[in-house]
Amino acid sequence: MNEITLHNKTFEIFISDQEIKKILDDIASKINTSEIKNPLFIAVLNGSFLFAADLMRKITIPNSEISFIKLASYEGTESTGKVNELIGLNQDVKGRNLIIIEDIVDTGNTLEKIVELFNEEGVQSLKIATLLYKEEAYTKNIVIDFIGKNIPNKFVVGYGLDYDEIGRNLPNIYKLKN
Ligand code: IMP
Repeated sequence: MNEITLHNKTFEIFISDQEIKKILDDIASKINTSEIKNPLFIAVLNGSFLFAADLMRKITIPNSEISFIKLASYEGTESTGKVNELIGLNQDVKGRNLIIIEDIVDTGNTLEKIVELFNEEGVQSLKIATLLYKEEAYTKNIVIDFIGKNIPNKFVVGYGLDYDEIGRNLPNIYKLKN
């Protein structure tokens, strides 16, 4: 399947499942050699669900834990503007070494909010792992510690990533054809 159609848009193959396997081996080995003690992995749903599952199988650091969150944004009062909240965090993260698992970092807006919210919780350390990184689109200064693959500023879908909620089940990653 070199081309697929989702919501009337055509996508072409970009990263095969074979290449994804190699990216996983590479990023897992970097995390494993980082010597982060008793890490608590935090997967950001929905997009990271496949990546997090496949990555965790390759993590060999003793006492590794994983938890799942969603970032919710809603309009607060007029004075506060947009309010962000971490949903699903049912664990005390104070003093923990966190590794955030993201599917893709684009502008970095989402990541910035997540980092702010975790810093308020008094974590010991916070590292970021992302499968995909759109370097050209990134506007923040937050260091991304573990990057699977740097990609051009194109819309991609598959392996957890969606186009308007569909396409997450695709084993390969596709990019929008233009
Ligand atoms: P950011 O806040 O601009 O960095 O965007 C991060 C979020 O936007 C990701 O967690 C995805 O949910 C979504 N996103 C960004 N780029 C893509 C893409 O190319 N395909 C699918 N989702 C994307």
